[in-house]
Amino acid sequence: MPQKKDPRSRFTILDFVQFLGGVLALCCILSYVFTGTSTWGYTGKYLNSQYYKFVVQHQLISHESILFTTDELALYNGTDTNLPIYVSVNGTVFDVSYGRDIYGPDHGRYHLFAGHDYSRVFVNGCFHRKDQWTFDLRGLDEKEAEIKLQSWIKYYRKHPQYWEVGQLQLPNLNNQPIPEECRDGLKLPSF
Ligand code: HEM
Ligand SMILES: *[C@@H]1O[C@H](CO)[C@@H](O)[C@H](O)[C@H]1NC(C)=O
Ligand SMILES: *[C@@H]1O[C@H](CO)[C@@H](O)[C@H](O)[C@H]1NC(C)=O
Repeated sequence: MPQKKDPRSRFTILDFVQFLGGVLALCCILSYVFTGTSTWGYTGKYLNSQYYKFVVQHQLISHESILFTTDELALYNGTDTNLPIYVSVNGTVFDVSYGRDIYGPDHGRYHLFAGHDYSRVFVNGCFHRKDQWTFDLRGLDEKEAEIKLQSWIKYYRKHPQYWEVGQLQLPNLNNQPIPEECRDGLKLPSF
């Protein structure tokens, strides 16, 4: 004769989900008590819904890397607060929206980089000279440029809150004059 189960003693999936939810909530509360944040101080992209939106739209649905023109990239300079902020280094575009204080139009000290590829300034530090605000690397020491750009690209790739978005189609420079040399740029202590 089959035994009738007492419905109260059945441990269902729903109970399990509720249990997990309880543990999670307790964990968040404890974190809040100890760290003042509900995520044990973690603020990286893996808790950022915008990051997952990007991953779903551009990596899961369409597998193609986004290709920007310079005009398209220019929209992402932080002025339109509905759009993310993008910075391009040597043609690789990064989402730096988390750094709105740094790149945003309201007194961001590196606002010039937002919506642009000013790789030349990443190399020579010539923030004060607008003619240097370009991706044009001609005339720079090639080895120095390669090392510095490589290191900035690495910095953005490894940054916990930033992520790579796509590539910039760099216009042809064949008929453009080579920018003047600039020797009095800011020097990063680490280089
Ligand atoms: C070649 C020269 C330089 C370049 C290309 C450069 C570029 C940058 C960039 C892109 C950031 C933002 C990084 C991020 O998004 O996390 C940054 C941050 C920062 N840089 Fe520079 N930098 C240069 C020189 C300097 C110098 C000489 C100083 C010192 C006066 C300096 C002080 C800072 C500080 C304090 C930050 C932290 C962010 C902030 O508080 O705004 N940088 N730099
Ligand atoms: C940002 O880009 C938009 C569109 O290109 C432009 O109208 C606006 O003036 C720019 N804002 C700043 C602060 O650079
Ligand atoms: C920069 O871009 C050029 C052209 O695409 C490439 O040859 C060079 O290796 C790149 N440098 C770095 C540091 O990514």
